[in-house]
Amino acid sequence: MAEQAMAQIGVTGLAVMGRNLARNLARNGFTVAVHNRSPERTRSLVAEHGGEGRFVPSESMADFVASLERPRAVIVMVKAGAPTDAVIDELAVLLEPGDIVVDCGNAHFADTRRREEALREHGLHFVGTGVSGGEEGALHGPSIMPGGSEESYRKLGPIFEKIAAQVDGVPCCRHIGPDGAGHFVKMVHNGIEYADMQLIAEAYDLLRAGLGAEPAELAEIFREWNRGELESFLIEITADVLAHTDAATGRAFVDIVRDQAEQKGTGRWTVQSALDLGVPITGIAEATFARSLSGHADQREAARRAFPDTDTKLQVEDRDAFVEDVRRALLASKIVAYAQGFDHIRAGSTEYDWDIDLGGTATIWRGGCIIRARFLDRIREAYDAQPDLSTLLVAPYFAESVAAGVPSWRRVVAEAARAGVPTPAFSSSLAYFDALRAERLPAALIQGLRDNFGAHTYHRVDRGGTFHTLWAGDRSEVEA
Ligand code: 6PG
Repeated sequence: MAEQAMAQIGVTGLAVMGRNLARNLARNGFTVAVHNRSPERTRSLVAEHGGEGRFVPSESMADFVASLERPRAVIVMVKAGAPTDAVIDELAVLLEPGDIVVDCGNAHFADTRRREEALREHGLHFVGTGVSGGEEGALHGPSIMPGGSEESYRKLGPIFEKIAAQVDGVPCCRHIGPDGAGHFVKMVHNGIEYADMQLIAEAYDLLRAGLGAEPAELAEIFREWNRGELESFLIEITADVLAHTDAATGRAFVDIVRDQAEQKGTGRWTVQSALDLGVPITGIAEATFARSLSGHADQREAARRAFPDTDTKLQVEDRDAFVEDVRRALLASKIVAYAQGFDHIRAGSTEYDWDIDLGGTATIWRGGCIIRARFLDRIREAYDAQPDLSTLLVAPYFAESVAAGVPSWRRVVAEAARAGVPTPAFSSSLAYFDALRAERLPAALIQGLRDNFGAHTYHRVDRGGTFHTLWAGDRSEVEA
C-alpha cells in the first residue's frame, strides 16, 4: 500500500470554524491533517469535502501528530479556556522540540502568554493567532493575526498568507509580534467591532426616530453610505439586516428580535486591559456597557414605569440635512473609536515589549475581518507617514473628516439629548474629542481636591517640583 502523504499542517477541533479553516487550507493546495475528539466530525468533513483537496484524517491524537511533517504545525480550534488547555496538554506530550502549536480561538492574551511560556520550556512554539471573519472568512479568506516567535512564522507565514483574504495583492496576515501579541490585537479588533456596531445602532435609532421611517427605508440610507467614506462590511450587513423581513410575522426582522445584545467577552477583555494600561478607550467601553445595559430588563422596565412621557420628539426639519448630520457624526465617532483602539495597541505593545507595527496592523484589517473598511487604508497611510503619530485624530485625512463633521456631531448629540434618544457612544466620542482638544481641563480641580483631603500633592503650571498646600493649617504651600 502506498504510504500516505505527510501533512504540512494539521487542524484539531472540527466545529464549523476549524472545519472551514481546514477546507480553506486544502483548497489552497496544502495537505491538511484533520482530527476531532469525536471522529464523526472528521469523517463527515472528509465525506462531504474530501474532493476539495488533500486531507489526512486521523481518529487518535497520536495518529494525527504522526501524520504531520516536521517541524509539525498544529492548529487548535476548540473552545477558549479549559478545553484549549486540555488539548494543548494532550498534544504537548506527543510533539517534539521545534514543533508549533497554533491557537486560532479567541483566547485571552494573558492565557496565550502563559501557554507560550510553558510550551517554550519544552522547546515548543506556541502561536496565539487571532482569526477574524466568522465562518465565511475562515473558508474564503480571513484576516489572520499570528503572535509567537519569528521562527514559527517562517513556517506558518507562507501558509497563512496564502489562505488569508487578499487586498490589492497584499495578504491580510502578518506576524504581529511575540507571545500574546496576536491575540491582543484580535481582542482590540473585537473592541473596535463593538464600538462600530454600537455607533451604527445609534445612527439607526436616530434615523428611525427622526424620520419615522421603516427599517427597509433606512436600509437604503445605509446602502448609500456604503458607497462613500463609511464603506465597510458592517455598514453593508446593516443594510441587509434592516431590509430583512421576518417570514413568520411579515414584520421587519429588526422589530421581532429582542433588544438585548449579548457578548462572549472579548469587548469586556478589551476594556479591562485598557483600564490596566490607562488608555481611555471610551467609545469601546460605552459600547460594551451599552450591551450590558440592554440586558438589564428589570431595571429598564422599572425606569420606564417611573419616567413615562418625559421625552420630546426629535425635530427634523430638513430630512436630507439630518441624514447627512447623522452620517458625519457616525464617521467622526468611528474615527475616535479607531484612534482609541490603535492607542490601546500601542500601549500594549510598549507594556509587553511587542514592537507592533500599527500601520501593518491596519493593512491586515482591510480585508477578511469584521471591521474591514475603506478607511483602514488611510490608517496605514497615516502611520506610514508618521510612525510616532500621537493620535490618529490628528493625521491629516482624519483631522479633516472630524473637523468637517464637528457641527453635525454637536447638532446630533444635542438634539438626541433634548429628545431623550440614548446615544452613549456618539456622546462619549464627542466628549473625548472635546476633552483632548481643551486648553485647560478641570483635572486641575481634581488635583486640588486630592491634595485637600489626602495630601496627594500637585504640580504647578509655572515651575517644577511637587507641592502640597497646608489646607488644615495656614494654607501656605510647601514643597513635597
Ligand atoms: C470576528 C469576530 C468573532 C466574534 C464575534 C462575536 O472577528 O470574526 O470578532 O471573533 O466571536 O464577533 O463576538 P461577541 O459574541 O462578543 O459579540
